[in-house]
Amino acid sequence: MLILAVLASGSGSNFQSIIDNIESGYLDARVAVLITDNPGAGAIKRAKKHNIDHIVVKPKDFKDRPSYNSHIAKELKKRGIELVVLAGFMRIVDKLLINQYPNRIMNIHPALLPSFPGAHAQKQAVDYGVKISGCTVHFIDQGIDTGPIIVQAAVPAYHDDDEESLGKRILKQEHRIYPYAIKLYSEGRISIEGRNVIITGEREDSPLQNPPH
Ligand code: GRF
Repeated sequence: MLILAVLASGSGSNFQSIIDNIESGYLDARVAVLITDNPGAGAIKRAKKHNIDHIVVKPKDFKDRPSYNSHIAKELKKRGIELVVLAGFMRIVDKLLINQYPNRIMNIHPALLPSFPGAHAQKQAVDYGVKISGCTVHFIDQGIDTGPIIVQAAVPAYHDDDEESLGKRILKQEHRIYPYAIKLYSEGRISIEGRNVIITGEREDSPLQNPPH
């Protein structure tokens, strides 16, 4: 069973989809801890409801980013975390944490990377006028949304979409592909060559071909 930590700052709907997929038996994993920087995060309620340990780590309690990250690193180590799942975590993960968990920190981004990295990806897509957008699960490296891509899903973008309507359509796909990416990892089906993520049996169960569940 894969031991996960989820880091989230907001409502935590991706966190919820991970919980649901564990509870349904789709994912052979356990969330050992939710870590948040936001005492008001909706994700905390979800953790409580499902008896998942949570901790609030506020950046303002630390003198700088390295000491903040090193505190998180200690919390992860203490719990034997095998995979770190960023799910709407609004803080930059620094090299200390990345070096402790090389290619073991995943993130989900609400755009088809490398288009529209950074904040407000859905708004960037609407403003640009693209006709297809989507979401990307990737490993974290030291850039902003630049790490090796694990899974992507596409959605249509329409001329009358706004950030919210497009965001909702994308979020539905996020809830499909994040559990799928974690499952691939837990089944040992992922290896990395340069920035190419190699997935065993990718053609057979790609979420682009078959909804995974
Ligand atoms: C998602 O759109 C995710 O792609 C982005 O932050 C948002 C988090 O949403 N990184 P939620 O808190 O999981 O509902």
